[in-house]
Amino acid sequence: KILILDFGSQVTQLIARRIREAHVYCEVHPCDVSSDWVRGFAADGRLKGVVLSGSHASVYEVDDKAPEAVYELGVPVLGICYGMQTMAQQLGGKVEGSHTREFGYAEVRARGHTALLKDIADFTTPEGHGMLKVWMSHGDKVTELPPGFKLMASTPSCPIAGMADEARRFYGVQFHPEVTHTVQGRALLERFVLEICGTSPDWVMRDHIAEAVEKIREQVGDEEVILGLSGGVDSSVAAALIHRAIGDQLTCVFVDHGLLRLNEGDMVMEMFAGKLHAKVVRVDASELFLGELAGVSDPEQKRKIIGRLFVDVFKAEAAKLTSSGASTKGAKWLAQGTIYPDVIESGGAKSKKAVTIKSHHNVGGLPEQLGLKLLEPLRDLFKDEVRELGVALGLPHDMVYRHPFPGPGLGVRILGEVKKDYADLLRRADAIFIEELRSTIEPHSGKSWYDLTSQAFTVFLPVKSVGVMGDGRTYDYVVALRAVQTSDFMTADWAELPYSLLKRVSGRIINEVRGINRVTYDVSSKPPATIEWE
Ligand code: XMP
Repeated sequence: KILILDFGSQVTQLIARRIREAHVYCEVHPCDVSSDWVRGFAADGRLKGVVLSGSHASVYEVDDKAPEAVYELGVPVLGICYGMQTMAQQLGGKVEGSHTREFGYAEVRARGHTALLKDIADFTTPEGHGMLKVWMSHGDKVTELPPGFKLMASTPSCPIAGMADEARRFYGVQFHPEVTHTVQGRALLERFVLEICGTSPDWVMRDHIAEAVEKIREQVGDEEVILGLSGGVDSSVAAALIHRAIGDQLTCVFVDHGLLRLNEGDMVMEMFAGKLHAKVVRVDASELFLGELAGVSDPEQKRKIIGRLFVDVFKAEAAKLTSSGASTKGAKWLAQGTIYPDVIESGGAKSKKAVTIKSHHNVGGLPEQLGLKLLEPLRDLFKDEVRELGVALGLPHDMVYRHPFPGPGLGVRILGEVKKDYADLLRRADAIFIEELRSTIEPHSGKSWYDLTSQAFTVFLPVKSVGVMGDGRTYDYVVALRAVQTSDFMTADWAELPYSLLKRVSGRIINEVRGINRVTYDVSSKPPATIEWE
């Protein structure tokens, strides 16, 4: 395993992702852990290397240092940006401060024949120098190498852009190998973890299952667990994994708020109760939700109502399961599909690890209220790993690679007041759109348009427009199709779906869903629009 010490850079998570992508297990911890903690972490003999991340701050603004033990374990250490500077400072070199710091493109000359950069280059200059195209933080820089180090990389503005002490296997780079703009970044990180640290690329989900199952059994013993199943990827994979570990000691509670997609509730039941033979309690609360939503058109108010009711219903159900009855000992654990990005500290050492309860599960504070212990078997995994795990556990590909779906469901996709009739029309229209996206293959990539988009759905507009059908006039509702491409959902582009696909979808919706006579396509990007309409 590899230890990543987080000094608070916004891209620390990417270091972990790149290393995991090389099938090497790694963990991110705040940089202010103690030397004893580090020695404890290494005590099982599995620690093969340490990465010191960058920081948003300057070495002159903060005094974060790596715990000394990092340099005494005898394992390779890679410092990135601030991590390199703190390494230089701690080991006797010099760093010069600067008040400005920006992230930008640079061409770095790779020097010397260090094990880290040997034969890694994007191009060679006429003089025969190997050059790397990188993203670099411009700001503070190392101005004097620590004893034992030699120069590994440089740019005109940053003469020491890389340094190496090959005897101790300590390396530092001023640029960021974890971002994709650094073309050889992946190769460099792979070189470090696989060759220099000598890890084996054995972090695969298939093997992880056995380990995870063992851990759950150990944690839970013979106690019972409840889990709120939403049909989303994380809670589904958590349910499948926990069920694999403890079978009937797990009860899933599936709250159907009546704002799910077409047949979604049945599909969840079929998968978990039918195929996996898990215990699932389905609570049909649609009347309650729709009743409370009647007359409410403000989006935030709708969200609040849905969130509150969800907690109430889940709590009531959980209370039944936690009190011991004739057939049950009473659950002692609440399981959640919390994943690594929800947990990982973003502000570095200054912001202490905060356990984030996923807001869309709307069960924040529940474990305490119900007196339950928290079970989070996915908290070490990234989203793509969770998906891989789901497939390895036998969940269907389509379920595991589903687009995200908001907690309030169709409640925020029916503009204004939510009514059952609207929801029924929307469900049918949306099912057609999704079906066509799944079945239409884009020839160059060979992928379906569903897989080529990050999120796609239909929005119900409670306005009527005039149309003609046969000899008659219609006066029916309008829907908008929305399909976006994004990597982080913070910004998004509307997808350039083929006209032929849009034509087929619109034709089918208008013909098959009586009550809708007009289909539009949303061509707004985020920002300034949001992905959802409410
Ligand atoms: P926006 O509309 O803000 O959406 O661009 C970004 C992502 O967040 C999802 N989303 C929600 N998810 N509860 C959720 O669990 C919500 O209230 C909510 N609102 C938006 C949205 O689907 C998109 O993936």
